[in-house]
Amino acid sequence: MALLSDKVAIVTGSTKGIGLSIAKIFSKHGANVVVTSRSLDIAKNIVEDLSSYGTDSMALKTDVSKTDSVTNLVKTVIDHYDKIDILINNAGYPLKNKYWNSSFESLNIDDYQHVLDVDLLGSIRCCMQIIPIMKKQKNGNIVNISSTPAITGYDKGIPYTIAKSSLLGLTKHLALEYGKFNIRVNTLALGNIKSSSTFDQLDKIEQEKLGNESSLRRWGEPKEVAKTCLMIVSDNFSFVTGQTIIIDGGTVMF
Ligand SMILES: NC(=O)c1ccc[n+]([C@@H]2O[C@H](COP(=O)([O-])OP(=O)(O)OC[C@H]3O[C@@H](n4cnc5c(N)ncnc54)[C@H](OP(=O)(O)O)[C@@H]3O)[C@@H](O)[C@H]2O)c1
Repeated sequence: MALLSDKVAIVTGSTKGIGLSIAKIFSKHGANVVVTSRSLDIAKNIVEDLSSYGTDSMALKTDVSKTDSVTNLVKTVIDHYDKIDILINNAGYPLKNKYWNSSFESLNIDDYQHVLDVDLLGSIRCCMQIIPIMKKQKNGNIVNISSTPAITGYDKGIPYTIAKSSLLGLTKHLALEYGKFNIRVNTLALGNIKSSSTFDQLDKIEQEKLGNESSLRRWGEPKEVAKTCLMIVSDNFSFVTGQTIIIDGGTVMF
């Protein structure tokens, strides 16, 4: 039997990069995937591609920075499938030069708010509305997508570091509070992963420099993150919760 046979999985921000790879691998392993994007047309195109796996996927327009939009997502999914087994909080604020390269004190509160509203509060909004459903089911699996600066700190991208660090706290708290309902919550902390919003934005010298930071001397592929994510939500990891799993080719080590 496929690893995620008949599971219903919401993957936020699944139209490109890492989220798209996760949506594909979940579908390939039997899950009915809810593909979300701020553009319904793009999400529909992805669902059309996923139909080749023979699962019942769904496209929904969702902006995780808006509570009403998340409410609509959850209601529509429950109306259609009557359950939610897996939530992947992947949606991330686009990597903006201003937010990546500015010093802490030169950004204003609105700048911080923009990133936090998607990466942190977006994940909280989804968890808040989906956990009551998972509690009733006595079954659920949540993965928060974070990054290695959340562990080590970094001298760039302060709004991202703050948002992604808070996800580690969110993960631990939810794992502790809801473990008794058979809900597992884990974090994936990513290093340099070759998505169009990261790798393609850099010049060749910077691409090589960042690739060489890792023990494996290269960037990771989105599908390598997706394969780890698949394993974590599967029964192969049934006794793992509250953890941060680092996927960075051996850059940060404990
Ligand atoms: N790539 C890396 O090296 C790396 C490293 C560490 C962590 N990460 C994290 O991994 C995740 C995916 O990264 P990626 O590189 O694949 O990024 P990406 O290619 O830019 O994809 C981001 C996704 O988030 C969605 N999104 C953005 N704002 C949204 C909002 N307000 N509501 C709902 N969806 C929204 C986008 O969907 P639409 O535009 O279609 O709405 C898109 O599908 C992010 O959380 C990122 O921070 C990536």
